[in-house]
Amino acid sequence: MSVTILVGSQWGDEGKGKIVDILSENYEIVTRYQGGANAGHTVEIGDKKYILHLIPSGILRKDVICVIGNGVVVDPNALLEEIELLEKNNISVKGRLFISHNAHLIMPYHKLLDSISESGDVKIGTTGRGIGPCYIDKYARKGIKIVDLLDREGLEQKIRQNIIEKNTILKKVYDREELDASEIVKEYVEFDKKIDQYIKDVPQFLNNAISEGKSILLEGAQGALLDVDHGTYPFVTSSSPTSGGACTGSGIPPNKITNVVGIVKAYTTRVGYGPFPTELLDEDGEKLRKIGAEYGATTGRPRRCGWFDAALVNYSSMINGLDEVAITKLDVLSEFDEIKVCVAYELDGKQLKSFPTDVDRLSKVKPVYEVLPGWKSDISKARTFDELPENCKKYLNFISEKSNIKIKIISVGPKRNETIIM
Ligand code: GDP
Ligand code: IMO
Ligand code: MG
Repeated sequence: MSVTILVGSQWGDEGKGKIVDILSENYEIVTRYQGGANAGHTVEIGDKKYILHLIPSGILRKDVICVIGNGVVVDPNALLEEIELLEKNNISVKGRLFISHNAHLIMPYHKLLDSISESGDVKIGTTGRGIGPCYIDKYARKGIKIVDLLDREGLEQKIRQNIIEKNTILKKVYDREELDASEIVKEYVEFDKKIDQYIKDVPQFLNNAISEGKSILLEGAQGALLDVDHGTYPFVTSSSPTSGGACTGSGIPPNKITNVVGIVKAYTTRVGYGPFPTELLDEDGEKLRKIGAEYGATTGRPRRCGWFDAALVNYSSMINGLDEVAITKLDVLSEFDEIKVCVAYELDGKQLKSFPTDVDRLSKVKPVYEVLPGWKSDISKARTFDELPENCKKYLNFISEKSNIKIKIISVGPKRNETIIM
């Protein structure tokens, strides 16, 4: 019986979707614990490609139960669209998708306020999915939860109260048109009719499952460096993607967690603004983007690309308590003559002993690189560690040692079978 947390260990888009899909073969339940439709988790099966935003990536295995935990912020439209898309592909979610009654709902004003704040002077480069404003309301104790849908009168009252405040902000601060509360109430009542069947007391359900000896995989969204507490604040998301967030976001207590698996890309990418010490603004960066198809799965934005950063992954491993790691997209490096790895940061001529999360310092650090020879051959057919070229093995051993991680899975292509399990 395992209760495993799977965490993105850089700035998101590490390939979590693919690895959840592989691991979920051995789990009865997969649970998302934070974030919302800002996530885009890709799973390729045969010639089909699925991009999941809200529903756990385990849904593609028909015997797996999928759960959306209380820590997730649920956009009704995104959820219904995703259910429809899956059903169209003959993947039924009925009876195997459950949503926590305590999850908060993304409201139309959250998306509007997200886009308005991004049009100001201070930009984060958000996905525009209303994530920040929804978590603001949650922590201000004004949020609307899934459970609120069950009480029509109470729901209407809460929405109307919220709208009064949001309309004041929209009109007085941003000089925008006011929103119509009745329209929103109508929309959310309709939504309730469609999702009523999925609502569950998730902490009770998950803890019962653990007592019955079932295995649970907790699927993180985003990545450790986008964590609101441990990431590169303010250029972060508004939730806790790190392993600590898995307990509060699901209702599973810490002493029931058996292990933590980190997903680490063989190089580094980031979407949106914020410091990125190993970013490549030259043709190598362009090459990584092109070979790695580094364009956002949610917004389509080009991802910023750079060399592997062992200083960053080392920090991530510490914060998340990574027991083992899946290295993804190793095949993308196959065409490089030389590959650089950042092994430390220098600031004002001195080597730093710890990772600086404050953005002023992080944006000034100078990466200390070591250069490794490339392997210049196709590795996508390798299915064992021994089948990898010598220089590729050396690269893996080097990043493992410098980042203090134990590599358990190596991904050499987007498909299920393009994987080496050690
Ligand atoms: P996630 O958000 O962490 O699930 O990652 P994304 O789905 O946003 O981005 C990862 C992208 O890389 C997707 O297009 C995957 O299909 C793809 N991918 C995953 N693993 C590999 C791999 O080992 N090699 C290659 N070339 N692509 C991969
Ligand atoms: P997955 O789960 C990569 C980034 C955005 C922006 C910042 C804040 O697919 O790895 P938000 O909309 O959350 O308020 O945006 O976080 N971001 C992601 N980057 N992968 C993601 O998810 C992301 N979700 C949010 O680009 O910089
Ligand atoms: Mg993604």
